[in-house]
Amino acid sequence: MIRSLQHVGITVPELEVGRAFYQAFGLLPHVQGNDLAFRCEGRQQDQIRLMSGPRKRLSYVSFGVGKGELENFTTRLEQHGVRVSDGPFARQLDGIWFQDPDGDWIHLCEADSQPTRIVTPPEINTPGEYRRIGKRGCGLESHARRVSPLRLGHLIKFSPDVDRQVDFYTRVLGMKVSDRAGSILAFLRSAGGGDHHIIAFARSSHTGLHHLSFEVGGLDEIELGARHLVEQGYRSAFGLGRHVAGSNYFHYIRDPWNSLCEYFWDIDVIPKDDADWEPWDATPEQVTAVWAVSPPPPDFVLNFEQP
Ligand SMILES: [Fe+2]
Repeated sequence: MIRSLQHVGITVPELEVGRAFYQAFGLLPHVQGNDLAFRCEGRQQDQIRLMSGPRKRLSYVSFGVGKGELENFTTRLEQHGVRVSDGPFARQLDGIWFQDPDGDWIHLCEADSQPTRIVTPPEINTPGEYRRIGKRGCGLESHARRVSPLRLGHLIKFSPDVDRQVDFYTRVLGMKVSDRAGSILAFLRSAGGGDHHIIAFARSSHTGLHHLSFEVGGLDEIELGARHLVEQGYRSAFGLGRHVAGSNYFHYIRDPWNSLCEYFWDIDVIPKDDADWEPWDATPEQVTAVWAVSPPPPDFVLNFEQP
């Protein structure tokens, strides 16, 4: 079964534009041949691989499967008429490659999700339970705190046919639907349990990247990260707010190519034994936000990636 989201490959016209943005976002770059890869501090797992190309495009998504499972996936894919190949990219990666029904490349490898940096949760004084006694919650140096994301949690891909994608990712790849909004939006998780969604699909005229989302250590970090990016000249797109689907707090920033990068914290986690989890089928408005400092702007759902 698919156990983890490993990394995404994105083609961009200028790697250095990407380096500046993702560094400001809090990721650590390292050169891999002709590519530029990014990791989270203290975690030995690439999260983004930028490759040079004529225009910005989400080129592939890499998922981790269990040891010894690749052969089963190959058989299953071929039984469903999906061609398994070496992949179209110059850089070789262990694993198998194929295209989903939208024609987007997927890479599967036998890899676990690497441990994330341990973050000590802040002590919080909640009504009736005052645990932080005689200690300040904020220091004078708090303004200067820089944000360092912990891991890539999920992405949302645009799709011209969300139902077809859900059918493929559940029936062929074995993922599960956590919540959806009809044929407009669907959130999928690993069958092994974990985050409410590691991938989601949003309806559009064509494929593309809506957003990448990185977990951070708390609410403060979401806003400190967003503020730093705005100070660096990037545009806040939506947030602060709290989603309904997934329940996570969020803030989205536009990347240099008009996709979105999200900081999140406190996402719903669903166990492998998920008998009690009832997926919702609601409206996009119902699942988008419990609250946000302002409504989502009209361009929040636009696909800026060229077909
Ligand atoms: Fe998200």
